[in-house]
Amino acid sequence: MASCGAATSAGAAAWGPAVSLRVGLSSGHEMPMLGLGTYQLLPEDLARVVPHALGACGYRLLDTAAVYKNEAAVGEAIRASGVPREEVFVTTKLHPKDHGEERAYEAALAALGRLGLDYIDLLLVHWPGVAKRSPADKGNAAARRSTWSGLQRLVEDGKARSIGVSNYTAAHLDDLCEWEGCTIRPAVNQIEVSPLCQQREIQAACRRWGVHIQAYASLAQGSDALLLNPAVESIAAKHALSPSQLCLLWALQQGFSVIPRSRSTLRVTSNALPHRLVRGGSGLALSAKADGAREATATDAVALADDELDTISALDPGDDSGRQCWNPNTAEGFDGVEAALCGIPEGAELKFADRVRAAGLRLIAQVHTAGYTGRPSADPLAMGTNNQAYVGSQDMEEHLLHLESSLWRCRDMKAEHVNVHGGHDSWPLEKAVEYLSRAVSIAEKAGISISHETHRRRLMWNPWQTRSLAAAVPGLRITADLSHWVCACERVFGSDSDAEWPVILEAVAGRTALVHARVGYSEGPQVPHPAAPEVAFEVKEHLSWWRTIVRARVAAGAEELFVEPEFGPPGYQRCTPFRLAAEGDIWEMNTYMAARVVRMCQGVPGVVAEMPAAMEAVLRRCDARAAAFMRGDEADGSVSAAAGGVCAATLRMVLGRDAEVSEAFAIGAVAAAACCAAAWLVCGSARGT
Ligand SMILES: NC(=O)c1ccc[n+]([C@@H]2O[C@H](COP(=O)([O-])OP(=O)(O)OC[C@H]3O[C@@H](n4cnc5c(N)ncnc54)[C@H](OP(=O)(O)O)[C@@H]3O)[C@@H](O)[C@H]2O)c1
Repeated sequence: MASCGAATSAGAAAWGPAVSLRVGLSSGHEMPMLGLGTYQLLPEDLARVVPHALGACGYRLLDTAAVYKNEAAVGEAIRASGVPREEVFVTTKLHPKDHGEERAYEAALAALGRLGLDYIDLLLVHWPGVAKRSPADKGNAAARRSTWSGLQRLVEDGKARSIGVSNYTAAHLDDLCEWEGCTIRPAVNQIEVSPLCQQREIQAACRRWGVHIQAYASLAQGSDALLLNPAVESIAAKHALSPSQLCLLWALQQGFSVIPRSRSTLRVTSNALPHRLVRGGSGLALSAKADGAREATATDAVALADDELDTISALDPGDDSGRQCWNPNTAEGFDGVEAALCGIPEGAELKFADRVRAAGLRLIAQVHTAGYTGRPSADPLAMGTNNQAYVGSQDMEEHLLHLESSLWRCRDMKAEHVNVHGGHDSWPLEKAVEYLSRAVSIAEKAGISISHETHRRRLMWNPWQTRSLAAAVPGLRITADLSHWVCACERVFGSDSDAEWPVILEAVAGRTALVHARVGYSEGPQVPHPAAPEVAFEVKEHLSWWRTIVRARVAAGAEELFVEPEFGPPGYQRCTPFRLAAEGDIWEMNTYMAARVVRMCQGVPGVVAEMPAAMEAVLRRCDARAAAFMRGDEADGSVSAAAGGVCAATLRMVLGRDAEVSEAFAIGAVAAAACCAAAWLVCGSARGT
């Protein structure tokens, strides 16, 4: 089979470039079947790991991307390895913002400059759509073609030897390959392939067009769901392999090339073994087996028997839940996640943060000082009682100590920002000022950006106290969750009823770093559904307050402001009495609110806010439902009781199936009610890695 076949250089006894297993690409060039992934590897990692991989282990391919921001360090590490440039196959990928013929061409030259190379062995289009634009956006199809023209020119000009794509679905491939302007077919489609996520439809399309599949995340990003899977463990043990080695062997035997990533030299060595095994026997050792069709040869070098390959292939649940990375078809349009630190088991923070970033999401941490466990009670009857009673202490020193240790944990997780629930509402003003002033210094010392939430039970639980605190603490930055004030003060603020409100709002706006875009009403901090006509007034007022904040930040020259629709699960979400069934679909509420925020931002001069198609669809659906209600049509039965589970399931899908991380996520991000961050004014946020 042309696309998955492999060529080997026979005869060389030593382990090294001459014996590396290679696949013949449609471009006429050969590509090593084993490479080193470099996503998230820092310059210091690369300086250690790359020379080791090239020197001691026989790797001959390095995979980087503009998005990884490490191309320069990759180039540097290759030079430091002493291995001649022509022996190393280098792949890089265009940033998803660099679509379009001229832009792609120029971006590729810039990448070569960063890498310090004259030509690139393989240049990939990283993502089938333009950054920040929904994959479903019609403009992407034109962008993909024009980008491809740029790549074809790079081949003609000798700047790229092979060109390919990444994360292209079957439809994207068909569209590109059927286009008359496509004179050079993509040589490679780099996609997620592991036993948990096999993307068989894309495999079939790649076979159809003679496109080689290079598997990424073939270790499912180290997920326990794969590496601790009993079937994987038992087959691995039978062959005296580690589970990771077994997964790589499974991929190689089917003709996928692999690019496992590790910052550990031991693992880099270990991950090269399957490649040696496949190469070790006589002749080709590939059995290009997909969709039940065995097309190529198998020899005595194949370590895994057919039934073993089948057992491992059966691990894909088939519902996309085994996917670790972003799915181009299901992008919802969110850019980040806010997760409560106290919900993440100690020791799992880095893994958790890694998962978030690997899903293409940005991370905001939430810290509750002194007392909050973040773990919801297993008893469903505790839901409506004191489950949110998270301030365990009134002792200021205890709050400060806890804040300091938490901020260092957030720093280790490389959280971009920290939302702090700190202090106690009973403290007099002077004590609150002292606490906040010391908190500002602690954050400065830790080198991390923080803001304090305007939350009930905390120091800024009402507008008047907040104004005094903002005046007294110069470095104070605010997380504006104004829904709490509406509930705590039992009114929607307005200049008619509260003469000082515009002044207070301006003062808050000037200090805001993060907006929790949840709508409160006099009786609670979360309206039952933000699209419901009966709360239209509250929604309109909150949007006008957030607009004031947005304008103030733009006027202050801020580069970005995080806005997060924070509709939370039961406790916050309304439930039917006795049945405790949550009313409404919380994922839909958050997406709807995010869409309203984006639309509001589009009306503010100086703000860049694009509406992802998935969000817009939810907006339209909810608006149609509200309009039907106003016309007196029958109630729409699609208002489901899916509740928090929808968030949990979706986010688990995005973040992986690792039990510990999933649990942390369920607790940290969903149960603690901070599930989605719609960040606008965010430059170049890319889907996928
Ligand atoms: N085109 C795209 O959109 C795209 C998307 C994702 C990835 N990629 C490329 O594909 C490469 C590989 O994918 P990936 O990095 O996402 O995931 P991966 O290779 O499946 O997994 C990497 C993770 O597994 C761990 N690991 C590595 N070897 C291990 C071993 N022997 N035993 C246990 N754990 C091990 C690593 O941890 P340690 O570092 O601690 O060892 C790391 O956390 C990337 O680095 C990148 O170059 C491309």
